[in-house]
Amino acid sequence: MKIGIIGAGNIGGNLTRRLTALGHDVSVANSRGPHTLTALAEETGATPVPVEEAARGAQVVVVTIPLKAVPDLPKGFLDGAAEDVAVIDTGNYYPQQRDGRIAEIEDGLPESRWTERQIGHPVVKAFNGTYSDDILDKPQPKGAPGRVALPVSGDDEAAKKVVRDLIDELGFDTVDNGGQDESWRQQPGTPVYGHRGGVEEIRKALEAATPERTADWRA
Ligand SMILES: NC(=O)c1ccc[n+]([C@@H]2O[C@H](COP(=O)([O-])OP(=O)(O)OC[C@H]3O[C@@H](n4cnc5c(N)ncnc54)[C@H](OP(=O)(O)O)[C@@H]3O)[C@@H](O)[C@H]2O)c1
Repeated sequence: MKIGIIGAGNIGGNLTRRLTALGHDVSVANSRGPHTLTALAEETGATPVPVEEAARGAQVVVVTIPLKAVPDLPKGFLDGAAEDVAVIDTGNYYPQQRDGRIAEIEDGLPESRWTERQIGHPVVKAFNGTYSDDILDKPQPKGAPGRVALPVSGDDEAAKKVVRDLIDELGFDTVDNGGQDESWRQQPGTPVYGHRGGVEEIRKALEAATPERTADWRA
């Protein structure tokens, strides 16, 4: 698949490593420009590009930048993507450590719904509670005992299937957490966030979530 990755940090870098290793055609972008991505490109074979070009022709685009940077993405950055592009959002709202106050989220809007509104496109929420090193260290073949499962939320069922199939290829099971209105169940501070478990454990953790945002996760 042609995959665009916007953000080349902990998560974006490791997704670039694994997705290129699986044979996908990966373009990767950061905020400082392609000339700062030569080491990652040499290591992985990914193509470093400006953000404006990252989604060009892509069937999957991963947005994996700090939440507060999402409004800075160039307008129309998804315009050249495949018509049915699946956009993965790995983001989390860290008001105290990084992102500052975002009023709509403080008022209860699910974080990925906020991102959808910023970029003007539906997203599939995935990897947001996954330790970045686990992307390299935890993959296991389908059916292996103890295979880690990741929760996935999104309203676009076709896009969600593309993402779940890709995560399976990456070596993880998935649990469908429903649409974006339910995506708070996998946000920071919930039982599933950062929890390494199999399908049944992840399902139970999603069920055990409560919607209040705790003090640690408020501005
Ligand atoms: N770290 C984890 O284990 C983890 C796990 C799950 C989810 N997450 C979430 O995933 C997101 C990314 O986390 P991370 O730890 O990978 O971040 P990170 O290591 O800080 O990397 C952020 C990347 O985003 C790029 N970036 C920032 N602003 C940008 C912009 N306006 N346009 C294009 N690229 C931009 C940065 O580029 P420059 O370096 O050039 O500025 C950098 O490559 C966050 O929302 C985080 O909460 C992180």
